[in-house]
Amino acid sequence: MAEFVRLQRHGAIALIVIDNPPVNALSQPVRQGLCQAFQAAEADPEVRAVTLVCAGNTFIAGADIKEFGQPPQAPSLPEVVSLIENSQTPSVAVIHGTALGGGLEVALGCHYRIARADARVGLPEVKLGLLPGAGGTQRLPRLAGVEQALEMIVGGQPIGAAEALEQHIVDQLFEGDPVEAGLAYAQRLLDEGRGPRRTGELSVPGTDSAELIAARHAEVARRTPGLFAPLRCIAAVEAATRLPLAEGLARERELFAECLDSPQRGALVHAFFAERQAGKIDDLAPGVEPRPIRTAAVIGGGTMGVGIALCFANAGVPVKLLEINEEALQRALQRARETYAASVRRGSLSEQAMEQRLALVKGVTDYAALADADLVIEAVFEDMAVKQQVFERLDAVCKPGAILASNTSSLDLNQIAAFTRRPEDVVGLHFFSPANVMRLLEVVRGEKTSQEVLATAMAIGKRLKKVAVVVGVCDGFVGNRMLFQYGREAEFLLEEGATPQQVDGALRTFGMAMGPFAVRDLSGLDIGQAIRKRQRAILPAQLEFPTVADRLCAAGMLGQKTGVGYYRYEPGNRTPLDNPALAPMLEAASREKGLERKTLDERYIVERCLFALVNEGAKILEEGIAQRASDIDVIYLNGYGFPAFRGGPMYYADSLGLDKVLARVRELHARCGDWWQPAPLLERLAAEGRTFSQWQAARLQSERSTRSAP
Ligand code: 3HC
Ligand code: NAI
Repeated sequence: MAEFVRLQRHGAIALIVIDNPPVNALSQPVRQGLCQAFQAAEADPEVRAVTLVCAGNTFIAGADIKEFGQPPQAPSLPEVVSLIENSQTPSVAVIHGTALGGGLEVALGCHYRIARADARVGLPEVKLGLLPGAGGTQRLPRLAGVEQALEMIVGGQPIGAAEALEQHIVDQLFEGDPVEAGLAYAQRLLDEGRGPRRTGELSVPGTDSAELIAARHAEVARRTPGLFAPLRCIAAVEAATRLPLAEGLARERELFAECLDSPQRGALVHAFFAERQAGKIDDLAPGVEPRPIRTAAVIGGGTMGVGIALCFANAGVPVKLLEINEEALQRALQRARETYAASVRRGSLSEQAMEQRLALVKGVTDYAALADADLVIEAVFEDMAVKQQVFERLDAVCKPGAILASNTSSLDLNQIAAFTRRPEDVVGLHFFSPANVMRLLEVVRGEKTSQEVLATAMAIGKRLKKVAVVVGVCDGFVGNRMLFQYGREAEFLLEEGATPQQVDGALRTFGMAMGPFAVRDLSGLDIGQAIRKRQRAILPAQLEFPTVADRLCAAGMLGQKTGVGYYRYEPGNRTPLDNPALAPMLEAASREKGLERKTLDERYIVERCLFALVNEGAKILEEGIAQRASDIDVIYLNGYGFPAFRGGPMYYADSLGLDKVLARVRELHARCGDWWQPAPLLERLAAEGRTFSQWQAARLQSERSTRSAP
């Protein structure tokens, strides 16, 4: 029998243990081992019950995602689940950790299920562009009803064990050791003389689910119009309401195959692995351990500082918040309270949790109070002189070994590190606004940042439940450097004849969470103006800049904060309305550049903005500012609202074909000038017929062999 699945006898009970670290995914050897173990138990006349448990931290986390897109290998998961369900010997699945996807489907195939009180169960396949393909869409509605099944299958969010018990998904909760609890439960089945109880033989509870299904369908079509899998999830559940099990399973299989073939599945699986990969630092020496972080401090209680302090409080880490004087401090603490109070009003946080978290945030005005902090994050004005003052003070008061971090979004981290006598302890922690909400964290690696400090920064990211990605020092790091290109092209489109509505609309149709002009109105046009001013001073004079944003700034139209920017806003309402003052500015900007305004098509708008991202991404990759193409994707998916079903800008370019992308970049270079200078890496890969992802894999391979060479 495969080593991944063990069968042990405990009297009349067969104990089947899956042991496939790290998450007991159902790879082919596990599926085969499960079949053999259940068949052996069934064939043994002395076995009267089966207990299925998993070794390690978790029950089965699902099918092995790495196998998707590979040729199928028998036995298939639906076959395994049917074999378990059809067995004559009663079986109990013992869930600890998480039972996800195919993992929950295996459990649903067992005749009984118990779960440790802290376990979670779910069918998250939709997040990978799939639907549960091993009977989940047919068996879950039979246990929990159509409404709950739709919630879990279309929403993809796991639920806790207590809720699973309420929803009849599990039969009992337990505390402590899974093997002990599983054997005891099986013994009880024997004592009570209970036999197999097959989920597939139940009928779906409730008679009229048509309305529920229609409502969910309408909601999905409205909320996520571009997504392929959710509507198929609904169709599969609908099949369960009207077809016998065997036919329902066949329909589920068809729909699963459609999803498997969809390009969205490829993109979403890429996003899953890219996120996990981003947490790894390729050149980290073995044995480098993160430093313990027990207390933190934040300097500056403005927009970012307060949000960052709340991230620590949310993670249960005591944090000091330092402001320039008592008045500014009280304002910052008040803002912290108001942010939590809004969550309490929305019902996402209890009053008690709010008070507990606020008790972890201590306001201070004296740097001496920071002497014991393990980590200090500076979030003061974006001004090098102010940063210098702060870092010199920190260097003087912080204990040896404290990590000194900056949240700067554009200043040179190496220069900031040089204000201290310990540049190896300085790192960039670039949060995104609102810091307590956005998942992305760019971890900026300075020239002298030590490996230990870098490892600690990544560990902090994980603790704060962020997606941390290592980036190098350059203007704007990865995310904002690319965004500058994207935003500039969006602006040029306004001069060629588009309106903000058209540009935002085209990019939203592509899948971006927000259009570039709505984003600019939200963050404030003055921020972009400051960046342009700096860029104008350092970039070659022949590069022309768009002018519409400057015209709006000159008119005091800075976006939502002034009630008008690219759009107009009614007081207290964020709905973007037409700004009548914009049209003459657009006309004037076009006239000044000698451009005749034209209607632009959607595809042109999207290519112009996205290929600018990709071309800059290729430059960033070759300069080594990002470790991997997939890291750039992770940054765009988690910090910039790029649609996950397109995998991120670099994956999207790979999927179009880099030769096609380059051809458009060259055309735009010829027509629009030097902003469009093709990235040498893009040219090389297009000529070689390779993708960013192949280039990345080859580079990693060669770095590994260089490192392991004697
Ligand atoms: N298949 C293959 N590898 C998997 C995996 C899976 N289903 N789930 C996790 N892994 C790998 C990760 O890639 C990672 O590998 P690495 O260490 O080499 O980077 C490792 O397991 C640990 O994963 P995480 O870093 O995510 O660990 P966490 O402890 O933070 O989270 C988890 C654990 C909650 C299980 C999370 O990994 C997760 O959500 N996994 C995916 C679950 C899922 O989507 N299941 C459905 C699969 S599709 C399916 O079952 C189809 C079926 O219906 C036919
Ligand atoms: P802000 O202007 O809202 O807040 C800055 C705060 O720092 C003010 O409350 C000010 O009183 C305080 N401060 C100034 N000098 C100080 C000093 N010497 N000691 C202690 N406190 C001091 O600024 P914001 O937007 O929070 O930005 C802070 C930093 O975060 C900047 O470096 C910015 O580039 C960066 N950042 C900003 C983002 C944003 O979207 N606002 C996103 C990511 C990074």
